[in-house]
Amino acid sequence: MTILVTGGAGFIGANFVLDWLAQADEPVINLDKLTYAGNLENLSRLEGDKRHIFVQGDIADSQLLERLLVEHKPRAILNFAAESHVDRSIHGPEEFIETNVVGTFRLLEAVRAYWKSLASDAQQAFRFLHVSTDEVYGSLAKDDPAFSESHQYEPNSPYSASKAASDHLVRAYHHTYGLPVLTTNCSNNYGPYHFPEKLIPLMIVNALAGKALPVYGDGQQIRDWLYVKDHCSAIRRVLEAGAVGEVYNVGGWNEKPNLDIVHTVCSLLDELRPRADGELYNTQITYVTDRPGHDRRYAIDARKLERELGWKPAETFDSGIRKTVQWYLDNQGWVSNIQSGAYREWVEKNYAGRTA
Ligand code: NAD
Ligand code: DAU
Repeated sequence: MTILVTGGAGFIGANFVLDWLAQADEPVINLDKLTYAGNLENLSRLEGDKRHIFVQGDIADSQLLERLLVEHKPRAILNFAAESHVDRSIHGPEEFIETNVVGTFRLLEAVRAYWKSLASDAQQAFRFLHVSTDEVYGSLAKDDPAFSESHQYEPNSPYSASKAASDHLVRAYHHTYGLPVLTTNCSNNYGPYHFPEKLIPLMIVNALAGKALPVYGDGQQIRDWLYVKDHCSAIRRVLEAGAVGEVYNVGGWNEKPNLDIVHTVCSLLDELRPRADGELYNTQITYVTDRPGHDRRYAIDARKLERELGWKPAETFDSGIRKTVQWYLDNQGWVSNIQSGAYREWVEKNYAGRTA
């Protein structure tokens, strides 16, 4: 038995592969293009581990997919591969269409052909699990109920629109061809190996470097935060017991305004690594021009997953964020390796035009 993971060198995919192999011996084929967001250092613990087979490649490469499927005969595919950053999708949407829409389509096509070639018991046991986001549901007003699985799709950014398109393709491949699919729509993750273009790692990294902490708009936008390892345990549970064709929302019941998140990060740093000059980190907070089309609030109703599959997050926000800040303090080498020229160019592109 083998599983094939796509995007397993990125933030969530790498955490998933590490957790998977820490809990079971079933090998993982890890297909990742190694874009700016893919980092083999995330998987360095697996060096020399024969249960992990890394393949650098694109989910849109049909020939490569066909070869990998025939050679390794996975019993499941878990699709993490995506362009994932909303701000990048605003600056340049095309790659989001290439990977999230065309890539998912090519992957589904290759998987459909492979799945049809399997014996009937293997066909029945096979699963294609698509990892998606709560952003496909759009934005909530302050008192709206949290997103349930039947919430209308209302994506607002090129990123969320491309993920919504991929979700629809996955749904259609089940409905039309009978492919045994599962879809998870998760809220904002945080934790180890999170690329420092996203809010929490950016704030930690900038704070420690004595740089501005750029809060978009009024900082009152709300996100619902889940520790990445809880997302991984939810995916494992859905793979194991989810009903074919179903969608499961994944969330930690942790709605917080961005400004609260930034203050929490600052307070933890004040405690764990106080500034040399005795000042507080929150003096570095700077309000900058808002993200265009910025969604105001996300909130996930995860009751279906809890009720039907008995999943619950293990971390509270307090325990998860403390572990996360500590991880960044303990892994400064990982951070500096990431801060290459390409990373600096992105920071310049995204923040230089935003007036304080
Ligand atoms: P990430 O950007 O950190 O990692 C994405 C990975 O995919 C990288 O390793 C990259 O090299 C790889 N990749 C990109 N294009 C590829 C292609 N064409 N072929 C093969 N590999 C490719 O993203 P993440 O935060 O780990 O997100 C993983 C998945 O989870 C995405 O599908 C994302 O939409 C979804 N998701 C993310 C969050 C979150 O908060 N980060 C929340 C919910 C859902
Ligand atoms: O909700 C799930 C989604 O969460 C995932 O699908 C995406 O892949 C993931 O990137 C994340 O999207 P967000 O846009 O919510 O995450 P980001 O970390 O970019 O921003 C979180 C909030 O913080 C958002 O309201 C924008 C704000 N922000 C972000 C940055 C980078 C700032 O105020 N300043 C910043 O510099």
